[in-house]
Amino acid sequence: MSRSMGGRAAAALALLLLTVWAAAPWVAEASVPAAAWTASETPKLIALTFDDGPRRSTTTALLDGLAQRGVKATFFLIGAQLEYNEDLIRRMDAEGHQIGIHTYDHVALTGLSKADFDTQVAVTRQRLMAILGHDGFLLRPPYGAVDAAVRQNAGCPIILWSIDPEDWGDQNAAREVEHVVANARDGSIILLHDIFPASVEAALAIVDRLHAQGYLFVTVEELFAARHITLEAGEVYRDAYP
Ligand code: NI
Repeated sequence: MSRSMGGRAAAALALLLLTVWAAAPWVAEASVPAAAWTASETPKLIALTFDDGPRRSTTTALLDGLAQRGVKATFFLIGAQLEYNEDLIRRMDAEGHQIGIHTYDHVALTGLSKADFDTQVAVTRQRLMAILGHDGFLLRPPYGAVDAAVRQNAGCPIILWSIDPEDWGDQNAAREVEHVVANARDGSIILLHDIFPASVEAALAIVDRLHAQGYLFVTVEELFAARHITLEAGEVYRDAYP
């Protein structure tokens, strides 16, 4: 009798543990890279980057989905959209995402005077520092527009991208996912925009598809650090291909 009760209790405990394991995303997340590389290999690294935010509705949904998957990303923010979104920006920072500058109101930086450049970049940097209490923000110029003056005025590394599904176009998540998965390589930097619901949907599907292929999602800073590449002010980086 007691033995049979014990057996049932053990079975119930096993079922409970299985249920808890299945419900704990960090357990599944932690197991993905370990299963995906062998002792002789390093994991494939890839960086998700998001421009033009924050936008409360879509950025919140994205942060929730990334947190469920234990994934870190990089957000290049618009200075004019920081106000009233301070809590979102602090959340990004607290959850291990990297934050960068995408100008104050999304203008091309080429052809600007130093004063106008600073109004776009330095002012955004000051606002971010006031919110987060630290610096270290990378720059992504809108449209990827870079010239000698932009490089000279940047004051920080300039981060472009190697995979662009042009998610602002048809906003078709399925197409964006296929484009990114087909072009993904160890060291890629993916460009998306967290202001579109379809892009958030695509980003999370991309994470799931590339996790299954053994990719580890890291911030831009982590991507280059893993390759022993020191990012330098005024230099342009598009990928960290080995
Ligand atoms: Ni942009």
